Amino acid sequence: MGIALVTGASRGLGAVIAERLAADGWHVAVNYANDTAGASAVADRIAAAGGSATPARFDVTDERSVREGVAELGRVDVVVNNATGPQPMMPVEKQTWDDHLGQLRFFVKAPLLLLQAVLPGMREAGSGRIVNVGSEVSDLGNAEFGHYVSAKAAMHGLTRSWARELGPYGITVNTVEPGWIPVERHADVPPEDYTGYLRDVPLGHMGVPLDIAEAVAFLASPGARFVTGQRLAVNGGRTMS
Ligand SMILES: NC(=O)c1ccc[n+]([C@@H]2O[C@H](COP(=O)([O-])OP(=O)(O)OC[C@H]3O[C@@H](n4cnc5c(N)ncnc54)[C@H](OP(=O)(O)O)[C@@H]3O)[C@@H](O)[C@H]2O)c1
Repeated sequence: MGIALVTGASRGLGAVIAERLAADGWHVAVNYANDTAGASAVADRIAAAGGSATPARFDVTDERSVREGVAELGRVDVVVNNATGPQPMMPVEKQTWDDHLGQLRFFVKAPLLLLQAVLPGMREAGSGRIVNVGSEVSDLGNAEFGHYVSAKAAMHGLTRSWARELGPYGITVNTVEPGWIPVERHADVPPEDYTGYLRDVPLGHMGVPLDIAEAVAFLASPGARFVTGQRLAVNGGRTMS
């Protein structure tokens, strides 16, 4: 079917998105920056399930790394902007401009660098898919999280502007907004935190990474060919548009 690049796919949501896209027949580039064992395990699981994948180590926030990393892949048909660094919460008085830049690096700079690297191939092909992994926080405006919330909101700004600009070339751009989806980094979260969160979830249970992966797979699929510039919240109805 073509090549799908999933950034930050050595664990968490990215790993499951990679596996789900591979199940649809995409050759998946399992991007990561540090965890070679994690990315190799994801690629091995995909191969064991009959799919095709290669680990692709490059720092999505570094211009040269992105250029070289994408060049090694050849043409890329789908980009899923999923990678994230740490997301520390802190009161606004403590937030520095560097804290804000740290989030913008992942959610604005990296998607921009990746788009610029894949765009010549997508324009030549007359098709392409960009899926930005946002967050429900940009609808909810979570306190003590202005750096992350504003960067995720900016990411959806990219989705909307790029959807208009690139639509004429057959390239769609959409945002998937996960709710809180427990992954490895949430292993120590106390059960009462989930109980509090679930009070505002109409469907009454936590989501799993596959819920996000299904939405991404749809937006990458031929069935989503007439969908662009959209924001799909996958959070059990916690936010509604
Ligand atoms: N999980 C949730 O509840 C939730 C909710 C809303 C939104 N989201 C969004 O969903 C996305 C995935 O979140 P997650 O919870 O799955 O995160 P995660 O488990 O912390 O995984 C982050 C991934 O990003 C990679 N990464 C870090 N720095 C990188 C860099 N410079 N270049 C390339 N890859 C890099 C990490 O791999 P290495 O360590 O190998 O570099 C890892 O594979 C994020 O955009 C997050 O904001 C998550």
